Amino acid sequence: MSLLLLLLLSVTTFHKSLSSNDHKFVQCNEKDEETLLFFKKGINDSSHGKISTWLTEKDCCTWEGVHCDNVTGRVTELDLHDQNLAGEINLSILKLEFLSYLDLCENEFDVLNIPATLHNFTHPSSLFYLDLSSFAFLDSGSTLHMDNLDWLSPFSSLKYLNLSGIDLHKETNWLQAVNTLPSLLDLQLSDCNLNNFIINPSIEFSNLSSLVTLDLSRNNITSQLKNLFFNITKDLTYLNLLGNNIYGEIPPSLQNLQNFRHLDLSWNQLQGSIPYGIGQEYSVDYINPNRTIIDLSANNLSGEVPLELFQLVQLQTLNLSHNNFIGTIPKMIGGMKKMESLDLSNNKFCGEIPQSMSLLNFLSYLNLSYNNFDGKIPIGTQLQGFDASYIGNPKLCGAPLNNCTTKEEIPETATSPKNEDGGSIRESLYQGMGVGFAAGFWGICGSLFLIRKWRHAFYRFVDGVGDKLYVTLMVIMQIAELLGRQH
Ligand SMILES: *[C@@H]1O[C@H](CO)[C@@H](O)[C@H](O)[C@H]1NC(C)=O
Ligand SMILES: *[C@@H]1O[C@H](CO)[C@@H](O)[C@H](O)[C@H]1NC(C)=O
Ligand SMILES: *[C@@H]1O[C@H](CO)[C@@H](O)[C@H](O)[C@H]1NC(C)=O
Ligand SMILES: *[C@@H]1O[C@H](CO)[C@@H](O)[C@H](O)[C@H]1NC(C)=O
Ligand SMILES: *[C@@H]1O[C@H](CO)[C@@H](O)[C@H](O)[C@H]1NC(C)=O
Ligand SMILES: *[C@@H]1O[C@H](CO)[C@@H](O)[C@H](O)[C@H]1NC(C)=O
Ligand SMILES: *[C@@H]1O[C@H](CO)[C@@H](O)[C@H](O)[C@H]1NC(C)=O
Ligand SMILES: *[C@@H]1O[C@H](CO)[C@@H](O)[C@H](O)[C@H]1NC(C)=O
Ligand SMILES: *[C@@H]1O[C@H](CO)[C@@H](O)[C@H](O)[C@H]1NC(C)=O
Ligand SMILES: *[C@@H]1O[C@H](CO)[C@@H](O)[C@H](O)[C@H]1NC(C)=O
Ligand SMILES: *[C@@H]1O[C@H](CO)[C@@H](O)[C@H](O)[C@H]1NC(C)=O
Ligand SMILES: *[C@@H]1O[C@H](CO)[C@@H](O)[C@H](O)[C@H]1NC(C)=O
Repeated sequence: MSLLLLLLLSVTTFHKSLSSNDHKFVQCNEKDEETLLFFKKGINDSSHGKISTWLTEKDCCTWEGVHCDNVTGRVTELDLHDQNLAGEINLSILKLEFLSYLDLCENEFDVLNIPATLHNFTHPSSLFYLDLSSFAFLDSGSTLHMDNLDWLSPFSSLKYLNLSGIDLHKETNWLQAVNTLPSLLDLQLSDCNLNNFIINPSIEFSNLSSLVTLDLSRNNITSQLKNLFFNITKDLTYLNLLGNNIYGEIPPSLQNLQNFRHLDLSWNQLQGSIPYGIGQEYSVDYINPNRTIIDLSANNLSGEVPLELFQLVQLQTLNLSHNNFIGTIPKMIGGMKKMESLDLSNNKFCGEIPQSMSLLNFLSYLNLSYNNFDGKIPIGTQLQGFDASYIGNPKLCGAPLNNCTTKEEIPETATSPKNEDGGSIRESLYQGMGVGFAAGFWGICGSLFLIRKWRHAFYRFVDGVGDKLYVTLMVIMQIAELLGRQH
């Protein structure tokens, strides 16, 4: 027994010493060390960060920010983000043969030196992550710039590329340059001053189809949205075009992006209404419930918001603020159970806030201010919550705004049978959706139409123009009509 224990103990000790020795024996490759020291030479490290540990008396695999392969001792990763580094980025560093990861973001470099011999690669590059992004462009004078992106072509393994904040205004062919990168999944080019680029439609952008994430925000891109590259980037799930000069209408081809979950087109010059996209629908697929963020704020969009948008039950954030949208919030919004942030402020939405909104349990931010909503704000934890704003709707009342006056309370009492009716309308509507999407679509449109018509009649009543009997009759007739249609 004790013999067995001893044997076991010695085996473990042997194993332990082997692996720790293993680590010690890994030695930095001399060529790699030389390349790193050349890189260090260009850098001004005034705050004595990681790079101050890069001393010849220590093995380069022990330098901070440097990671070596534990068997070959070749440098594979370099992470010097947020080190207050200034001076020059000498991109000869990319000649490190086994480098797969380079992160130099959030520094204050002044110069970017791209050696002409960077093209002359004799071995396949394994670089998959490259972040040279800089905040300098936003801040002040010191600006990194690149005349072109041709030097990227040998890095065919690149999956992630962040060049945000580097001035690329001289590069008019960036799309072609990144198109030569067959593995690229994530491309970040915000604040790059890319206002000059040309989309050459004669080029086949077959390789861009691998892209999943594309950030081109704040670039002053002046183009019609329909002329951008939606038909070549079908797997895109994240698209950010915030803060450009993109104009024209939202093209139906945007719906070719079946997979997108995050769409930000805010702060552009888009006009017109959101396309319905249901061409007597064959494209039911377009309703991808996986979408989580849609931001169309700060454009010049108008018209009613298509009901399909309120069927995106996975949507967590919807921002339509600062446009000219009209119409009402449909009751079906209560089905958007994942909604966390809803901003419809600064539009021309009208009508009552549907009671169903109190079902949005995750809602933590709600902004309905500066519209033409009326009636009483429904009661609900989220609707009276801390982050709910309703100001600038003169006809809206109830907590957290002023109490409704007695005159305005009349609609409230008269509303209760309407809400029940609304419930049964909704029920039959969902039945209709079960039968088939087309039926559901017309059910929704029909019921909204009816509700709206009825609402008009109702207001006539409140204004003292109509009479109670008329309204009741209208309601009964129209519900009967709706149920007739549904069955
Ligand atoms: C950049 O580094 C390479 C070696 O990696 C060196 O030959 C070259 O002189 C350096 N360039 C500058 C401008 O320091
Ligand atoms: C290095 O950077 C510091 C602070 O950014 C600056 O004061 C100093 O002049 C720089 N030195 C050189 C040699 O560029
Ligand atoms: C070497 O690194 C790999 C992961 O990169 C790890 O799985 C392996 O255990 C390491 N080997 C030794 C001997 O440390
Ligand atoms: C690098 O390639 C260019 C052509 O692209 C060639 O003119 C040059 O001589 C090459 N340099 C080296 C060092 O191989
Ligand atoms: C790309 O770089 C910019 C600027 O450093 C940064 O704000 C952004 O978060 C980066 N993108 C990603 C996906 O990390
Ligand atoms: C796409 O990538 C492949 C493989 O890297 C390459 O052969 C082809 O030329 C590229 N196509 C375009 C249009 O750049
Ligand atoms: C944006 O682009 C337009 C032309 O496309 C140009 O006139 C304008 O100066 C650019 N603005 C900035 C800030 O670069
Ligand atoms: C993409 O759209 C452009 C312009 O709208 C068109 O010329 C091109 O043929 C389309 N390509 C594909 C693959 O659909
Ligand atoms: C939604 O996402 C899930 C999991 O990420 C995936 O399995 C499903 O195919 C997606 N649905 C659509 C319509 O893309
Ligand atoms: C919605 O968009 C506007 C304008 O872009 C912005 O000011 C606001 O903060 C956004 N709302 C939310 C909740 O992010
Ligand atoms: C917004 O669009 C309307 C037409 O829908 C147009 O008359 C108006 O000039 C546009 N406003 C701006 C600021 O572009
Ligand atoms: C609103 O009405 C409640 C009672 O219903 C009352 O307690 C409250 O003081 C009123 N608030 C205002 C601002 O009039």
